[in-house]
Amino acid sequence: MRLRFLNVFVLACVAFPSLAFSQTLSGAMLGNTCAGCHGTLGAPENPQIPPLAGVLPAQFMATMLAYRDGSQRATIMNRVARAYSDEEISAMAAYFASLPPQVNE
Ligand code: HEC
Repeated sequence: MRLRFLNVFVLACVAFPSLAFSQTLSGAMLGNTCAGCHGTLGAPENPQIPPLAGVLPAQFMATMLAYRDGSQRATIMNRVARAYSDEEISAMAAYFASLPPQVNE
């Protein structure tokens, strides 16, 4: 019975993709996808990667939009930024600004 419900749900998502993504993703959910490089909670282990925790929202927005439109050159971020809408970048800006800035020992 449970399996049947799952099948119907999966089929419904295939037939109506908007059902699967009907809610806006939160800044935290979006921002967690950056952790592979920028570290958990925006604090990277690798000193070559800039931290995101505590970055001012205006600075975050300006940088991401410049990466997206190509006016700021980068090794990887041009491609990453192209995946996000203005609203999603704004949600991530608020999320990363809310995290405590990284303190280097
Ligand atoms: C594959 C690794 C990788 C991923 C994934 C990644 N970044 Fe980056 N990010 C970098 C690197 C490397 C830089 C330095 C610029 C460059 O060379 O692309 C950077 C720079 C940045 C900067 C500029 C910070 C500064 O102080 O100059 C921002 C903002 C940023 N990334 C946001 C994000 C966000 C938001 C995500 C997730 C949606 C993300 N990054 C995912 C590797 C990554």
